[in-house]
Amino acid sequence: MEDVLYHKKYGYYAQPLSRAIGRGGDFYTSVSVGSTFGFLLARAIHREWEAEFPGGAPPVIVEQGAHDGRLARDVMAGLREIAPDFADAAVYRILEPRPEVRRTLQESLASDPSADGIEIVGDVAAAGAPRGIFLCNELLDAFPFHCLFYQGGTWHERRVGLQENGEGFAWVIRPLPPSLRDFATALGHDFPEGYHTEVAPAVDSWVAESAALFPERGVWWIIDYGYPRSDYYAPSRRKGTLRCYDAHRAGEDPFASPGQQDITAHVDFTRVAEAAERAGLRMAGFTDQHHFLIEAARPWLLSIEGQAPDAATAKRLRQFHTLTHPSLMGRQFKVMELRRGK
Ligand SMILES: C[S@@+](CC[C@H](N)C(=O)[O-])C[C@H]1O[C@@H](n2cnc3c(N)ncnc32)[C@H](O)[C@@H]1O
Repeated sequence: MEDVLYHKKYGYYAQPLSRAIGRGGDFYTSVSVGSTFGFLLARAIHREWEAEFPGGAPPVIVEQGAHDGRLARDVMAGLREIAPDFADAAVYRILEPRPEVRRTLQESLASDPSADGIEIVGDVAAAGAPRGIFLCNELLDAFPFHCLFYQGGTWHERRVGLQENGEGFAWVIRPLPPSLRDFATALGHDFPEGYHTEVAPAVDSWVAESAALFPERGVWWIIDYGYPRSDYYAPSRRKGTLRCYDAHRAGEDPFASPGQQDITAHVDFTRVAEAAERAGLRMAGFTDQHHFLIEAARPWLLSIEGQAPDAATAKRLRQFHTLTHPSLMGRQFKVMELRRGK
């Protein structure tokens, strides 16, 4: 699975950054809805820094999974709109470990004046600061995962194998590798025959690394689709959360068009919180995008209340509706807040 997503030449995420996300791509994200997501995150960042990070240090914002840097640009534009001095002082670092993606991003940001204040760095050591704010949108759902399969009263791993005629891929059922045994044991046995689901241990090492970004004081906003563990591994969720996206069609066949479709699984947010606690962070909040963005938007909504919206405000309101309406993106996406320090 790692290869079909991340192979340097053939992997899905090796394709040009302009592909994949948005109207002409395979799927939408809150970022691709328009600049309103970044505008509201800018408001949340500004409020957070003013209230919780006293002491005059310049704000440091780190984003990972930044794709083409659009959210970075939108957040910086939002900060310039609401607090120009704060925006001038702010440093926005895109953390991108893959050198080839870093190069492409660098080229695209270098020629864009709206990318002022945005840096691209390759690791946590270069991205970090004593204090800062981290954010990621739909990063963790893109991590490679294992597939678990419940059969004959036992957990197995469902792996990628070859069809008998050797002409394509097929699922093969194998005994669980030692690294997944404790997790499967903890899930128990209250599952129907043929139940399958996913698990992403890569989340653990990522949280441990990310926690090192801000050794003194920090807040991490992890935005993604996912569930707490009890909901993720509910016996009724018989077919797990593996989904493939190709030209906005959702499918469940990861063997179709290898390298040409996105393959994702929902995030087990309990796993994120457990890893955070081991890394010395605390889980300070878990809500849905609807509540998180409405809170961030409150001063803006009050400022436009009772006025006939101009065209730009009307556009922003339409995007706000898409991002927050429970039947659109408001309920499906969750925001977990982790903190170090007060
Ligand atoms: C679903 S896309 C989301 C992109 C963007 N954040 C958005 O919301 O539109 C996932 C992105 O995470 C990137 N990614 C996956 N693993 C990563 C990692 N370890 N570090 C940085 N980016 C990563 C992928 O290349 C891809 O651009």
